[in-house]
Amino acid sequence: MELIDAIKGRRSIREYKPDPVPREMIKDILEAGNWAPSAKNGHQWRFTVLTGDSKNRYNEMFRDTLNMFIQKQGRDEAGSAPWTLEVMQEAPVVIIVWNTNDNGWISEEQSVAAAIQNICLRAHDLGLGSLWIGDVFYAYPETRAYFGKEWKLSGAITLGYAASEGKVPKKKSLDEVAEFLE
Ligand SMILES: Cc1cc2nc3c(=O)[nH]c(=O)nc-3n(C[C@H](O)[C@H](O)[C@H](O)COP(=O)(O)O)c2cc1C
Repeated sequence: MELIDAIKGRRSIREYKPDPVPREMIKDILEAGNWAPSAKNGHQWRFTVLTGDSKNRYNEMFRDTLNMFIQKQGRDEAGSAPWTLEVMQEAPVVIIVWNTNDNGWISEEQSVAAAIQNICLRAHDLGLGSLWIGDVFYAYPETRAYFGKEWKLSGAITLGYAASEGKVPKKKSLDEVAEFLE
């Protein structure tokens, strides 16, 4: 696949078939993440891959945390999180993404974001759907405690065979986001 086709053809996929994703394919996709540029070549990303029961147990914890949040703050404050959780239930693979944050630099978070984008692009290249998820931040301390990690939580990614094509969102035109100064 041409790079530009991968970049423009990748969509956020929120409906998945139950078919499992072979371990070798997940590794191939993570390898693409591991080749991202990183601040001081620090490879600040870490990945925890959840499938089967491990995924279901994490999702249960997330659901409990989210329900408590909604009880206290109200449903509106939870935004898209309950919906995102449904996507995480349906997807056969959920990858928790960490930032080792060795130096406390913003650049370290940017390195992790570059890895996530590589992962989403390689997934698309291999015929899989993916979703970049920030809603796990509703369970930020809980997720760290659940896995016993000292790292910063950077988000999550779902992977799986798409059950429906993602809707092409309206993208801003280049004129709206770039300026050329001479
Ligand atoms: C940092 C980040 C966090 C995101 N978090 C979520 C999320 O929690 N739930 C969700 O459904 N989509 C999430 N998305 C996906 C965006 O909604 C999506 O990328 C955007 O609508 C553009 O659609 P596209 O990915 O198909 O181009 C996230 C995307 C990014 C980059």
